[in-house]
Amino acid sequence: MPAIVTVVDLFKNYYMGTQTVHVLKGLNLSFDEGDFVALMGPSGSGKSTLLNVLGCLDRLTSGQYFIGDVDVSDMDDDQLSEVRSTYLGFIFQSYNLLPQYTVVENIELPLLYQGIKLDEKTKARCVALAELVCLGDRLDHRPLQLSGGQQQRVAVARSLVNDPHLILGDEPTGNLDSKTSIEIMHMLRELNRAGKTIIMVTHENDIAAWARRVVRLRDGRVESDVRNDTRTVMEIG
Ligand SMILES: Nc1ncnc2c1ncn2[C@@H]1O[C@H](COP(=O)(O)OP(=O)(O)OP(=O)(O)O)[C@@H](O)[C@H]1O
Ligand SMILES: [Mg+2]
Repeated sequence: MPAIVTVVDLFKNYYMGTQTVHVLKGLNLSFDEGDFVALMGPSGSGKSTLLNVLGCLDRLTSGQYFIGDVDVSDMDDDQLSEVRSTYLGFIFQSYNLLPQYTVVENIELPLLYQGIKLDEKTKARCVALAELVCLGDRLDHRPLQLSGGQQQRVAVARSLVNDPHLILGDEPTGNLDSKTSIEIMHMLRELNRAGKTIIMVTHENDIAAWARRVVRLRDGRVESDVRNDTRTVMEIG
């Protein structure tokens, strides 16, 4: 299976005045097309930092980052924003919906940011995505008129509007109760089965169990990298 993203010798520092914070310390990781990866590790181990680099929301300090065969490490801001809008979808812990917009308008937002003209066709696509996440009867609701799980479902639909290859989630179930978390995980598993590659940060073992592979970070390094499906096969075999 071809690697969809690869990081080579990835270092990430933050600079605060005279202090350098060394966060990612030489990561080498490759994620395959169609994989479903849980990124785990203690608070402060660098999970969100890695996800932000993978999502082209932040730049690496040294090393290389490839999407397919393309080295994105040296891209300028416009090129990175093009990669984000054509290739990547994002789901955040706090949903990040705009409160004044309806469900459909929130799903449309990434298209607006890409400068795509909204018309009946884009609207129909957003309505179909709302239906996909079972919010067909909530199209004109605003985020505050929705439950947390429903808001996260809007965020899932929004992450799909540009038909991304790779979906990145930073604790997508972090604010949800366990029943609602399972709903969201069902949705992510279906998307993965339909071919989407997913990399998701989580603190919960039972959420990570939905993934095919679990990568654990500790203090900016990879502590372990285990395939759930291999483990299952081993347990059965
Ligand atoms: N913008 C920043 N400036 C300075 N230091 C930062 C910045 N962002 C993160 N850090 C530091 O980098 C380290 C890793 O942060 P990161 O947010 O990646 O951790 P995390 O693994 O996602 O933790 P959590 O599980 O709590 O979300 C932390 O020590 C944090 O203080
Ligand atoms: Mg984090």
